[in-house]
Formats: sequence, C-alpha cells, structure tokens
Amino acid sequence: MVATVRRQRPRRLACWALMTVLLADLLALSDTLAVMSVDLGSESMKVAIVKPGVPMEIVLNKESRRKTPVTVTLKENERFFGDSAASMAIKNPKATLRYFQHLLGKQENNPHVALYKARFPEHELGFDPQRQTVYFQISPQLQFSPEEILSMLLNYSRSLAEDFAEQPIKDAVITVPAFFNQAERRAVLQAARMAGLKVLQLINDNTATALSYGVFRRKDINSTAQNIMFYDMGSGSTVCTIVTYQTVKTKDAGMQPQLQIRGVGFDRTLGGLEMELRLREHLAGLFNEQRRGQRAKDVRENPRAMAKLLREANRLKTVLSANADHVAQIEGLMDDVDFKAKVTRAEFEELCADLFERVPGPVQQALQSAEMKLDEIEQVILVGGATRVPKVQEVLLKAVGKEELGKNINADEAAAMGAVYQAAALSKAFKVKPFVVRDAVIYPILVEFTREVEEETGVRSLKHNKRILFSRMGPYPQRKVITFNRYSHDFNFHINYGDLGFLGPEDLRVFGSQNLTTVKLKGVGESFKKYPDYESKGIKAHFNLDESGVLSLDRVESVFETLVEDSPEEESTLTKLGNTISSLFGGGSTPDTKENGTDTVQEEEEGPAEGSKDEPGEQAELKEEAEAPTEDTSSPPPPEAKGTAAPEGEKAAEKDGGDKPEAQKPSEKGEAGSEGAPPAPEEEKKQKPARKQRMVEEIGVELVVLDLPDLPEDQLARSAQKLQDLTLRDLQKQEREKAANSLEAFIFETQDKLYQPEYQEVSTEEQREDISGKLSAASTWLEDEGFGATTAMLKEKLAELRKLCHGLFFRVEERKKWPERLSALDNLLNHSSMFLKGARLIPEMDQIFTEVEMTTLEKIINETWAWKNTTVAEQAKLPATEKPVLLSKDIEAKMAALDREVQYLLNKAKFAKPRPRPRDKNGTRAEAPLNASASDQSEKVIPPPGQTEDTKPIPEPEKEAAGSEAADSEPLELGGPTAESEPKEHPEQPTGQKRTLKNDEL
Ligand SMILES: Nc1ncnc2c1ncn2[C@@H]1O[C@H](COP(=O)(O)OP(=O)(O)OP(=O)(O)O)[C@@H](O)[C@H]1O
Ligand SMILES: [Mg+2]
Repeated sequence: MVATVRRQRPRRLACWALMTVLLADLLALSDTLAVMSVDLGSESMKVAIVKPGVPMEIVLNKESRRKTPVTVTLKENERFFGDSAASMAIKNPKATLRYFQHLLGKQENNPHVALYKARFPEHELGFDPQRQTVYFQISPQLQFSPEEILSMLLNYSRSLAEDFAEQPIKDAVITVPAFFNQAERRAVLQAARMAGLKVLQLINDNTATALSYGVFRRKDINSTAQNIMFYDMGSGSTVCTIVTYQTVKTKDAGMQPQLQIRGVGFDRTLGGLEMELRLREHLAGLFNEQRRGQRAKDVRENPRAMAKLLREANRLKTVLSANADHVAQIEGLMDDVDFKAKVTRAEFEELCADLFERVPGPVQQALQSAEMKLDEIEQVILVGGATRVPKVQEVLLKAVGKEELGKNINADEAAAMGAVYQAAALSKAFKVKPFVVRDAVIYPILVEFTREVEEETGVRSLKHNKRILFSRMGPYPQRKVITFNRYSHDFNFHINYGDLGFLGPEDLRVFGSQNLTTVKLKGVGESFKKYPDYESKGIKAHFNLDESGVLSLDRVESVFETLVEDSPEEESTLTKLGNTISSLFGGGSTPDTKENGTDTVQEEEEGPAEGSKDEPGEQAELKEEAEAPTEDTSSPPPPEAKGTAAPEGEKAAEKDGGDKPEAQKPSEKGEAGSEGAPPAPEEEKKQKPARKQRMVEEIGVELVVLDLPDLPEDQLARSAQKLQDLTLRDLQKQEREKAANSLEAFIFETQDKLYQPEYQEVSTEEQREDISGKLSAASTWLEDEGFGATTAMLKEKLAELRKLCHGLFFRVEERKKWPERLSALDNLLNHSSMFLKGARLIPEMDQIFTEVEMTTLEKIINETWAWKNTTVAEQAKLPATEKPVLLSKDIEAKMAALDREVQYLLNKAKFAKPRPRPRDKNGTRAEAPLNASASDQSEKVIPPPGQTEDTKPIPEPEKEAAGSEAADSEPLELGGPTAESEPKEHPEQPTGQKRTLKNDEL
C-alpha cells in the first residue's frame, strides 16, 4: 500500500492569533460591539471585556469583585447567580449548584458522575436514557441538564460584561481546560448556543494564560527559543503546560512573536476543592466527636451543616496558607450547637498528603509529551488559586529542581486576559499586533476502516487500516483530507481517538468513549456509475479540527478526472465558467489549490493493502511532525484564512452546476502528483493543449455519534426557550421588586419629609394630615396586600401618591431654586444693561448697531426688570402654602429671551466690517479702525463676542454673582419687595473687577 503524505503548505500550518500588546495599539475600526472573554473555572469565573476605544479589562461583578462564583440557585420562582447564589448555599443547599462543569460531556456511568454524587449528595441526579447523561432534579417540576446550567451561567457572565461595558455583547471567547475532549468541548458550545452567545473560540485556559504572559513580554521574545512551564492548580484540576516562545517570520507581518504549546500534563481532580473536602471531612469528624455521647445525628447527614462546613473549610484552607494554625468556628452548626476547633497547617498537610504527592505528576506528563528535560525549562510559573498552598509550592519546587517558582503573572486573571486578547484579535472591530499561537492536540484522532483484500489469487481477507488524522501534540487548527482510493461502492469508516496510553486506567474511564463517530457513506457506487469514462481519484473526506479544538467532517467527495482534448484557446464555455468562478474566489482551478486554500491540508491516500503492514499512517504522521515547525514558522497563514474563503469558492462552483467540472492543466499535478512548481501559464499553453477535467460528486454522509450525542436541535431550541423564559421571569420579578421598593421608599421618605421645616413652611397642617393619612393607608396596603400585587398595581399606587404630594414638593423645589435663578437673572440684566450703555457710547460714525436694535434691547431689559419686580412682589404677598406665581421655568424663559437679544448684537459686532477712514496728511489713519474701536469699547463693558447664537441653559453665575445671590434672595425670604428689586441704573463694574466672561456666561 502506498500511503503518501502531501507536504503541507508551510504558511497554512500555524494557527494564528493577532494580539494586542500595547493597549494603545488597540484600535477600534468601527463602532461594532464589545467582545468578552470568560475564564470558566470550576469554582469561579473571571470575565474580561474589550470595547472600541477602551482597553481590555477585568469585569467587576455586582459586588465589585473580580471573580464571580460559578454558582446558581434555582428556586421554583426565582434564580440567583454568583455571589448571591453562593450565599444561598447554606440556606438552600439542594437548589444551589456548583462544580457542575465536572458533569459536562459525561455519561451516567462515568466515574466523575459517581464522584460528583459522592461529593455533593444533596443533589438529586436524574438519568436521561436518550443520551445516557444525568440532569439535576431540583424539584418534581424543575430539572436542568448540566448544559442548561452552564448556559445560565454564561448568560449571567454576559449580563455582567454588558453592565460593565454599557453596551450589548454577543461575541465571546470562552476558556476550557486543555484536557477537555470532543464531547466536553461540544457541551460547552451547546451551552453557549442556548445562551445566544457567539463563540469566537473555545480557547484552552493554559493557552490563554501563555498568551497573556507572552503579549506583556513581547519585547523579551526573540529568535532564541525560551521554554516556560506554567503550573496551574485551580479548584477542580491541575494542568502543567510547557510553552516555547520565539520570534518567527510571518508572511504578512515580518518577524513576530510566537507561542507554541509543546507539552501538557494534567490531573483532572487535583485542586483546591479536593483539599477543602478533606478539611470538611476532618471538621465534620471533629464536630461529631465533640457531640459523642449526646445521641446526636451525624453532621454529614445534614446538608445545611455540611454546606456551612464546606464554606468554613475553604476559609480555613486559605488562612492556613499564611498561618501555621487557625481556629475553625461556626455558630449554630447543627441543632443550634456551635462548633469550634483548632486546625494546624501540619494537620491539613497530613490530611492532603496523598494529594501533594500527585503534584509532580502533571510536570512529568508535560515533559514526556514535549519530549523535553527539566533543564530545558527556563522558568516555572505558578497559575491558579490553589498554588498558593505552601505545600504545593514546596513539592513543586522540589519536583522541578529550580531555585524558585515564578509568581510574575496574575494567577487568577491571566487566562481571562489572554482570552480577551484573543477575542479582540478574532473580532473584526479591533486591529491588534500579531502574536502567533500554535496550540497542540492532546488526544490524537485517527480514521479506521476495514477493507476486503485479495492477498493471493482467490484468497480474500479483511484488512484493518488506521490512519492518524491529528497526531498527539500536532498543531491545530488544522484541516486534513483523507483519500480512499480503493472503493467503488458505499462503505463505512470510523473516527476514533488514537493511542491514549498516556492516560492512566482511571483517567481512561473518565475520558469516556474512545470511539467518536462512525461515518456511513451513501452514493459512492452511484458516483462511479455517473462517470464511467472518468478515472476515479478516490473518495476524499475533508476533516477540520477548528480553533476550538472541535473536530468536524466538512464533506466527503468522490473525485473523477479525465483528459479533455481541447486547447486552452478552445476551452468549453462550461470550463471557462468553472475557471472564472474558481479564480473569483481566489482558489484557482486546481484541486490542490482548493483543498489547501481552506487551511492546512494534508492528504493521506489509502493505497494497496501491503502498505498497511507497517502502520504507514503513523509513519506519515511522524514525517509531517518533523517538517511542521520549519514550515510553519517560515510563513504562517494570515488570520483571516481561519475559515472560509476558499471553501466558499468551492461551494459557489458546486452550486453553479451541481457537480463541479474543473479544468486542470496536466502540468498542475493532482493529489498523487509531485510537488514541483507548475510552469508558467504562457509556456503551458503552448506545450499542453490537452486539459484535465475534474468532476466532484458530493457523497451522502450519515454520522453515528459514538461518544456523546449532541442535544437534538429541537431539544436545544426548547432549552434555549426555557432559559429565555426564566430570564424574562427573573427580570419581571426584579422589576416588581423594584416597584415595591420604590413605593416603600417613597412612603417612608415622604412621611419623614412632612416633619422637615422646609415642607412644613409650605403646607398647612390640614394638608400634611391628608398626605400623612394616605401614606399610612398605602403602607398598610403594601404590608397586607402588596405581596400579591402586580408590578402595574405597585406603580399605580406610587403614581397616586406622587400626584398627591406633587403640589407640596413643587412648592419646596421652587423655593429652593429661586435664589439661584433670581441671582442669575440679575446678573444677566446687569451685564445686558452695561452692554447697552457701551453700545450707546459708540460714536455715531462708528456705530454698528441700529437705533431699532438698541431700543429693542432696552425694551426687553426694562420689561424683564419690570416682570421680575412685579412677580417677586406678587409672590411675596401669596401665602407660602399656595401654588407660587414666581416660577423658575418663567425666570429661565425670560433669561433666554434676553440672552438671545444680547447674543444677536454681540454677533453683529463680531462680524462688522471696519468703515474706511479719511487719511491725514501723513497718510496715517485719523482713528483706530472701527472694528478695533467697537471691540475695545465693548471690551470695557461686555465680554468677547460669543461664537454662536445658540441659546444655552443659563448656568449658575460665578463668584461675583455669589455676593448678590445672598442679597437678592434675602428680601424674598422676608416676603416683601425691597430696593434691590427696583429697576435701577447699573453702574459699570469697577476696573479691578473687570474680567473676561466666559462665552456661556451671557
Ligand atoms: N490563599 C489561598 N490558599 C489556598 N488556596 C487558595 C488560596 N486562594 C485561592 N485558593 C483556592 O484556589 C482555588 C481557586 O483557584 P482558581 O480560581 O484558579 O480555580 P478555578 O479556575 O475556579 O478552577 P479550575 O481552574 O480548577 O477549573 C480554590 O480552591 C480556592 O480555595
Ligand atoms: Mg482555572
């Protein structure tokens, strides 16, 4: 059997990410929406956003915290998330769900399901026979799958991000543990779909951390490879990653930094949670011990007490990281009995001794997978909250044999920040500096198929073949094509995981099914019948391991070729059309170009049977791995190649004629041909008039999912609807609560106001009694019937009360406004009068204002003075308990009218042209130009001309107004007109006080 491996186009091999290093480089290209990242830890999530014009930042939750518990409380009529849910854990342990991610993508027989039940016996898990999965049975009516719970949390994370960004967000990069397999990744994607989030990428949390580390140390990355180890111990698990940083030459952006994931080791259950559980168990034992002989029940049977103990264990564990001992203390732990016990760090370390022994495991695995030795690692950096446990650091330090452990990244937030850089890079809204990211496949994937072969004449036997599609530690995202050359009828093949020998037996059981999918092909035979005169080029299956690490079979095609006896000049219309369409999409007309154009493509051919004896797939794969790094680094693909341009081209061509006729020049070799560069088209035209025509027939595919079936589409839609309804219900509930709170607050505040002097001054006792009585009635109603009242009823009640109190509040408000408004009016009148006086002083020959204009201003000034004095006097006569006649809005209107007039004249002065002056004998001007004169004159009394005629709201007068404010407001308070309010000649300001007023002061 001849198995060939096509050389991959170097620039297609690397996966790309364009990163921001300097925040200033982050440039919003359009006002598209903000994007977010969620580092979805088992205990807490860290959310980050980036929005146009604003650098990336960690989102603060409603409690202004940077971490939000991945916790939800599901009650019959309400849900709580994050910190509020975490505080419900004790009151309502059964309905408060945590660590549910451990159930994602797992079937009921998975050891992790059993572990979850053992750790959290308070939760009832139901069984879904269709998918063989479990769900949470909260109450007889309430049940949710782990995907649904995750979806709620993702939706919540989005609401936090939206509140923080103050704009809607749809696009997200979500982190997943690097060890998540296909089923687990698909579960997260399905949860995101239910939440209506567009997942730009599922990024491995270790890769995100490495990215964050790299982008902030961009300057330290050079052509010498640096190997850094990240050791991340979180709450649920531990992952150790070896990353190589180096600058590489990129096609479009020259030398750029790159990170490559070289090795990964993990322990799925080693983390802070397990330590806490050990401590809880210890505390529970101590409590039982303390109550021995009192015929008390085992505290372990009381979920609320166990929830309290778990919380205390968490606190204790954290304190013991900094102290040698600590006293655990819980009031009324059970049966109103308090609990108090001293625990030393030594005791804690004893309890977790076997856990600490597991600390070096991931390091060894990572080194093995990277085929590296410890001395090649420059630095070991701590990530994740649980690495703060001193014993973890001690054991790790010993295991890695370094002088110290690096603590130079934010152990909690690095993953979220790396993920949000990635989000910015993937979103079209931001332009970021390139940072090449090469992630690596942890679980190899292969294709298996069985074929009947005839080894000797007449002796037929079945041969089992394996081809590695994606090898362990090979780069992704990546596309591959596998060609089956020996089939002319329908057949099946299987997609399975490859050698998982690096997982221990227990981890293998947790891993679940090692078979992914059986692919049943339909239509192979028909395709052969359709093209009897063509040569078969095989059945080509196109696979894609996308940037989220999720495998898909894009399509399967049966490909045929024949030589067409026509010269290039005599191309058939159909062929010409085919070529044009192909080139329109940049794909060219050769099959190779098209396949490669989709991204990294490697072809393997299933050849003669003898080839299978030595697992040629494995050999081929090794060859590819050896070549990959140099190829990649020379010219990685541009970021936009991550997807689709070329396949679209193919699709367009397909759609055009159903089948895909493609003219191919013989010199442009097909997939079985050599890799030599094709001759120039001109040369070719002369030499080779005959052309290859290629026909591509899409083959029907039936997929039998063998690991964990996705939620069926209709169920997914139902779940999405169910969650949307819950969100709506929560929002409605919140609105009702808000309405009830507003009503309650109004009643309370108004009752209080009725005793304040400013309110008493403007109301009669009778009025106050009336209001007070109605407020009390409303308060009673709220207490007695408010519970069942709808939002509308609550709002209506509040509106009634507001209406009742409106007059009183209005009187108080108006009185508060008077001094300031009247002072501003006086100010404006003074300035206007001065301006008018100045204008009148301009010599006739220089005058720029007409008499009518000046008279109009004078009139309006006088009228305004008159209005003010009359109204103030009238107001003074009115009892304070009646609706005032002096209204702040009227004062504002008067000011606006006067201001308009003054602005008009100022503008006129500004644009007035100087009149020509008669010259004296010496040829010099007799007087200053009119413009200067007018300006100088007016400078003495008026501010520089305004730039605009807009009537702006009158702002509070500045300093000098403050003095008059008191003087002006005084008479009103006394209730009578004074000399101040009489119209009068306003003297010019003393020179010392002369100032240039701001434009908006007039
Ligand atoms: N000072 C400390 N001492 C001991 N443990 C700590 C300390 N600070 C945090 N932790 C523990 O770290 C864990 C949380 O770490 P982190 O936020 O990295 O986990 P996660 O991302 O939620 O989980 P994972 O990554 O495992 O899914 C918790 O178990 C917490 O108790
Ligand atoms: Mg984490």
